[in-house]
Amino acid sequence: MISRRDLYRYLTMGLGGAIGFVLGAPGIAYLLDPILRRVSGGGGFVPLARLGELEVGVPRSFPVIRARRDAWVKYPPEPIGSVWLVRQPGEGAKTPVVAFTSECPHLGCAINLEADGKAFLCPCHTSKFALDGKPMNPVPPRGMDSLEVKLSSDSDPKISVRFERFRTMSREKTPLV
Ligand code: FES
Repeated sequence: MISRRDLYRYLTMGLGGAIGFVLGAPGIAYLLDPILRRVSGGGGFVPLARLGELEVGVPRSFPVIRARRDAWVKYPPEPIGSVWLVRQPGEGAKTPVVAFTSECPHLGCAINLEADGKAFLCPCHTSKFALDGKPMNPVPPRGMDSLEVKLSSDSDPKISVRFERFRTMSREKTPLV
């Protein structure tokens, strides 16, 4: 048989735990938030260029500029990555531009364009990709990671890209969240 004093003590402990959880959960989320944001790259569309700046079939690299939060400090906008844009042939094509993150799906180095401009090459371990992002040798675990593209309806459309980061060394394209 439980005494009245023990019952009171258990109730007090339970209430204290509930209050601690309610107060603590948002605090933990707040503390983790900058870390999670930094790892994922943040998502969201970033304006990069105008369609008129691109020549059909000639890849161009654009930096992704974004304000960064490192731990609990907010820094001014700075490059957090880069994106390759490739304009597609055909006036009024359904997909006028394709975008790839320059982060190599092998181990994350920055992918460059070969000197002749006919393929992408990662300098770290020689992963090679066609201009449509398909792998051209067995080094990378998958093709280059494409990104979602949005065009404005101006006469010279503005190209925005949803910048994301993906897991390396995986055959699947898995976003880091
Ligand atoms: S990181 Fe690109 S080939 Fe290894």
